[in-house]
Amino acid sequence: MTDGSIHPLHADMLLAMRRLARSVAVISCSHAGRRYSMSATAVDALSTEPPSLLICINRTASLYAPLDAGADFCVNVLSARHRGIAIDCSGRLKGEARFTTGNWQTSVHGVPYLHDAQASLVCAQDGRFVYGTHTVFIGRLTEVLVSGEVDPLVYVNGAYTTARALVSHAAA
Ligand SMILES: Cc1cc2nc3c(=O)[nH]c(=O)nc-3n(C[C@H](O)[C@H](O)[C@H](O)COP(=O)(O)O)c2cc1C
Repeated sequence: MTDGSIHPLHADMLLAMRRLARSVAVISCSHAGRRYSMSATAVDALSTEPPSLLICINRTASLYAPLDAGADFCVNVLSARHRGIAIDCSGRLKGEARFTTGNWQTSVHGVPYLHDAQASLVCAQDGRFVYGTHTVFIGRLTEVLVSGEVDPLVYVNGAYTTARALVSHAAA
């Protein structure tokens, strides 16, 4: 729908998406001397040839303007202990304050990344696709950093949990 009214499937889609468990990432970038970050689950691998990712960004988000201006970005896959950062970067904090928690560093390409993230996938922006409220940005990988055991933070049914908690719950 393009007239601003809520689509009849809106609520049903949200209900269905509660059952799609996703790893939580924080997307970070830098533009004109300022850093930006945002929690995101609409993130996925696009291809390994070339190694590339896609991220879906609401055009109302503060991260949108620097990406629209062409900023390169990093997809930081959060670990179980990064729940606070996920909450900070989805609205509890704003702007530069989102970088006060966590070990944030700057890549050789000038992109901020979370040093102890499960994985930090640094990307050069390499395409985009506008659809509805969101823009899909494509990133071509330029650097990959991996840290610690596999223990991702997961968002499911409107709440944060961990992959380990889900596995131990299923085994019980
Ligand atoms: C678990 C979770 C996942 C989210 N995933 C996305 C996403 O993939 N794309 C997006 O545009 N916003 C996503 N959001 C919303 C943004 O994190 C949030 O609206 C944004 O940080 C607030 O906008 P601001 O940066 O302008 O304050 C998500 C929020 C949460 C809590």
